[in-house]
Amino acid sequence: MRTQVAIIGGGPAGLLLSHLLHLQGVDSVVLESRDRDYVEHRQRAGMLEQGTTDVLRDSGVGDRLDREGLVHHGLELRFGGAGHRIPMTDLTGRAVTVYAQTEIVKDLVARRLADGGDVRFEAEVVDLDASAPSVTFRSGGETRTLDCDYIAGCDGFHGVGRTAVPGLRTYSREYPFAWLGILADVPPSTDELIYAHHDRGFALHSLRSPTVSRLYLQVSPDEDIAAWSDARIWDELAARFTTDDGWTLREGPITDRSITPMRSFVAEPMRHDRLFLAGDAAHIVPPTGAKGLNLAVSDVTILARALTERYATGSETLLDGYSDACLRRVWRAEHFSYWMTTLLHVDPAATAFERRLQRSNLEYVATSKAAATSLAENYVGLPLT
Ligand code: APR
Ligand code: PHB
Repeated sequence: MRTQVAIIGGGPAGLLLSHLLHLQGVDSVVLESRDRDYVEHRQRAGMLEQGTTDVLRDSGVGDRLDREGLVHHGLELRFGGAGHRIPMTDLTGRAVTVYAQTEIVKDLVARRLADGGDVRFEAEVVDLDASAPSVTFRSGGETRTLDCDYIAGCDGFHGVGRTAVPGLRTYSREYPFAWLGILADVPPSTDELIYAHHDRGFALHSLRSPTVSRLYLQVSPDEDIAAWSDARIWDELAARFTTDDGWTLREGPITDRSITPMRSFVAEPMRHDRLFLAGDAAHIVPPTGAKGLNLAVSDVTILARALTERYATGSETLLDGYSDACLRRVWRAEHFSYWMTTLLHVDPAATAFERRLQRSNLEYVATSKAAATSLAENYVGLPLT
């Protein structure tokens, strides 16, 4: 078997890369260890920067996004019993779009298959060679080798791609909390997302559609999900979102619940020889601010351009600049995600002094146009250079 670009992983990064390469006449094969149903139903943050919607729309996979995506021009910071709106579009001229990651994956899989793309599910990569490029994978009880010019490691945080980079430097931070996330069949109680800071912990009100709400509670990293009945979840959410003017949270049947750990992680460089890492394979952000998917999209946009130039002209200049170009953007999103996480969560180990600094910072962001603009421009996403 042979292709130009072997792509390990059929998450948003691998699928979009395959699609962008196809548009430029570059062949690829996507090898995904899980089945199609699994990857199309994995719940993740779904907040798209304008640059991300532009990439999807410009590459012809934005029709359903344009119909069903919900454009947001602001968000609410809620603390001390009151809401404070950050008017993102007024401050930056840009907006974000709520569109579930499950739907992006479905749109990309459908489009790759309609275009005759080679996307193999239940095909697990077990070995790779970054120098004489090839990947070895298991599928249907057989072990096969795929030869290629380049390998894209789009195989997420637990993948094999990163292990093939010698001398990798890694940077990480664990947080002393996790998110308990729920999906509920109830119309959202808000038009714009609410990021709430409360003495009992952080809470986020997000949404998936006009009839489905997505909500999160800060919990401890070793929390037992079985200890959270529906009633306890709704009571805790209501307590953390409470306002002095009697705002109410609509409740409904909970259809999905899970606990996500929070970590920051970066691996450098994002390239070794003919292997390029992209998305969660190279970096993880805590979900506050929802940067994970957007970083995956910017990585593969930069990689698709670099590979296209290489096949069109023979030049490897953009490929040589790939890791540095991605990492500049990655570190900005790492800082922003860390900053927004520490701004809003309750750290059980924080001193009284640190708690007062945190409160002062919240008030500053809520009342200063300069501080709110800084939050807003990072939230809507910096332009892809
Ligand atoms: N062989 C084949 N596929 C693999 C292997 C392997 N050895 N190891 C992992 N995979 C697959 C996983 O099953 C997964 O579907 O790689 C895929 C990686 O996809 P994601 O985890 O979705 O990562 P990525 O495409 O980079 O998307 C980043 O995911 O975690 C969120 O918030 C993050 O939204 C961001 C997005
Ligand atoms: C989500 O809708 O899942 C979401 C939105 C915004 C975030 C995190 C998650 O900051």
